[in-house]
Amino acid sequence: MTQPAPIRRVPGYRPRLLDLYCCQGGASKGYGDAGFDVTGVDKDPQPRYPFRFIQGDAIAYVLEHGHEYDVIAGSPPCQHDSDCQRIQGRDHPDLIAPTRDALNSTGRPWAMENVRGALPKLRNPVMLCGAMFGLETYRHRYFETGGGFTLHQPHHPQHTVPQAKMGRPVPPGHYGQYVGNFSGVQQARDVLGVPWMNRDGIRECVPPAYTHWIGTAALQALLEVAA
Ligand SMILES: C[S@@+](CC[C@H](N)C(=O)[O-])C[C@H]1O[C@@H](n2cnc3c(N)ncnc32)[C@H](O)[C@@H]1O
Repeated sequence: MTQPAPIRRVPGYRPRLLDLYCCQGGASKGYGDAGFDVTGVDKDPQPRYPFRFIQGDAIAYVLEHGHEYDVIAGSPPCQHDSDCQRIQGRDHPDLIAPTRDALNSTGRPWAMENVRGALPKLRNPVMLCGAMFGLETYRHRYFETGGGFTLHQPHHPQHTVPQAKMGRPVPPGHYGQYVGNFSGVQQARDVLGVPWMNRDGIRECVPPAYTHWIGTAALQALLEVAA
């Protein structure tokens, strides 16, 4: 795994993480909590995004600036893959393979996230579930890694709590599925740990708990290389 010199030389340095397709910053928040200095890129304005933000095309940006960061993450949209997109009738170009190629060209360690429907396009992904982190939602997300960075697959606890129907109010004793035009924005903020987001951000977001875990592993890997 390659890395820039400051990790080796400057005590207290916060390694820089670039989060592509950042949206309102669910994934970014977890990486920030893990200890990274985070910058996000999205093609749309993201006034709720809580870190340094660059509006632009993710692939163009990473090809030009990826080498300036220590770790790169991203959540490329993938056509036909998300239940949420199907519900909303939205159509996105499939950016998984072009994003992977761009990430590999940087020589930096990376993690690329997607949803279940994208599984055939992901290489050896690790699956994360809310039950692994004590969240009251399952929200499975899949993470492919590269650039020398690897993750182990955590134990997947059984789903013992029933789920509310997709997007519907959450009955007592159930976990929510916050997709589409879901009800209960404040509850979803509390459950997912994203108090700054609106519905648009929540339906798309990676729970920060997931990327806190990944970010902690990435930091550890950087430190091991530096030792
Ligand atoms: C699934 S959301 C990402 C969610 C985010 N990881 C989170 O945890 O909150 C995908 C985002 O990609 C952005 N996007 C789509 N195409 C893009 C492109 N070519 N360049 C940059 N951003 C893009 C969309 O505007 C959207 O905000």
